[in-house]
Amino acid sequence: MTVEALADLSRRLPDLRLLTEAGDLEHYGRDWTRRWTPAPMAIALPASIEEVQGIVRWANERKVAIVPSGGRTGLSGGAVAAQGELVLSLSRMNRVLGFDVVDRTLAVQPGIALETVHGAAREHGLIYPVDFAARGSCSIGGNIATNAGGIRVIRYGNTREWIAGLKVVAGNGELLDLNRGLIKNSSGYDLRQLMIGSEGTLGIVVEATLRLTDPPPASQVMLLALPNMDALMQVFALFRAGLSLQAFEFFTDIALKHVLAHGAQRAIDGEHPYYVVTEFDAPDERAQEAAMTAFEQGVEQGLISDGVIAQSDAQAAALWRLREGITESLASHKPYKNDISVRIGAVSAFLHDIQALLSREYPHIDVVWFGHIGDGNLHINVLKPETLSDADFIAQCEHVTKLLADTLHRHGGSISAEHGIGLVKRAYLESTRSAAEIALMRGVKTVFDPNGILNPGKLFI
Ligand code: MLT
Ligand code: ZN
Repeated sequence: MTVEALADLSRRLPDLRLLTEAGDLEHYGRDWTRRWTPAPMAIALPASIEEVQGIVRWANERKVAIVPSGGRTGLSGGAVAAQGELVLSLSRMNRVLGFDVVDRTLAVQPGIALETVHGAAREHGLIYPVDFAARGSCSIGGNIATNAGGIRVIRYGNTREWIAGLKVVAGNGELLDLNRGLIKNSSGYDLRQLMIGSEGTLGIVVEATLRLTDPPPASQVMLLALPNMDALMQVFALFRAGLSLQAFEFFTDIALKHVLAHGAQRAIDGEHPYYVVTEFDAPDERAQEAAMTAFEQGVEQGLISDGVIAQSDAQAAALWRLREGITESLASHKPYKNDISVRIGAVSAFLHDIQALLSREYPHIDVVWFGHIGDGNLHINVLKPETLSDADFIAQCEHVTKLLADTLHRHGGSISAEHGIGLVKRAYLESTRSAAEIALMRGVKTVFDPNGILNPGKLFI
């Protein structure tokens, strides 16, 4: 069936690039989760919207499942193809299509890397403000599929805020042109927003119009050492009251140990349980003094044990590396990742509850905490001990995630803050979304993708 079906696809789309070599199937069939063995039927690399439509129409007729694929830096298995699916990689559709100086928008193809978008915006004296460590390899299409967040959400919000228009190929092959860059558009359901965060289950993004904005004022980066967990949100409140924050990120001493072992430079001496990297507007002396005042108040109140402020761009980058290098420094330990959120106001109480839970459930396992604490998003990475098999380790983590999901439910939080549900978290969707919501979501899926060919098995069990 596969050979015949692929031959038919090639007949219909003679210019379509198709890959079937084992190495390509392995490469394109997985994302950063590494939990599933890739097994796609083939990889299609369309170069145009028409080719994407042609593939989707063919898949409908043949009832072939499609896994839309961007940079595959996802951490929830959303781009995994382990069930004989066709991977539809957008990597060849990776160009800037145009800049509109009046609208201040950039039209791009979905396979473009986030970092390339940053560069393109800068060429026009503007910024695209969504940013995170995978910027060099993740793609805008993937960012849209998961409503990616990252390190500047506290100032700029999530990807959702920056999408002025989307062209999407729906599950029946039809091309939808959603919102067309309009700022005001009160004309019924906003299908553009519905697509954002839908993880490739409703449609395939084939073009995006991104809003750009003015660059922020000159900033400073500070690293703070904190004596205990309670200090985290108190320092956040102190800094937010006195400064205009661009980022407020935290990590623990265990995270620091790993990132230092991975080549980052120590910036504060001594042992401290918690650290914060914060960046804030500092265009003039007044703002810089306000930062020193907030820092001194924190020290006087016993909330801050030590701190350093970057004196150059190179130092600022070195401080950021302590936070942004964590994911990479943990990769060899095959971490099980929880990416959770609660309201900012609920963070302190939530942290207490889960600290008790995690130290009880993982008594002899390294658990690394870090994340975007200033917007209520916490990353918990559980490191696999060498003595445990992959299967036993995952089973134990799944058991704890169930308990974590119950705790999140009590605090009104989300089982996925910014990585998406994918395959990894679909068993816990009910902790965050009510039965009525999930029923409606399933209904929406059927409307957009009647034959269930778009990323089946992701998001829902
Ligand atoms: C990050 O913020 O560094 C990633 O989203 C988190 C992770 O790797 O778990
Ligand atoms: Zn993150």
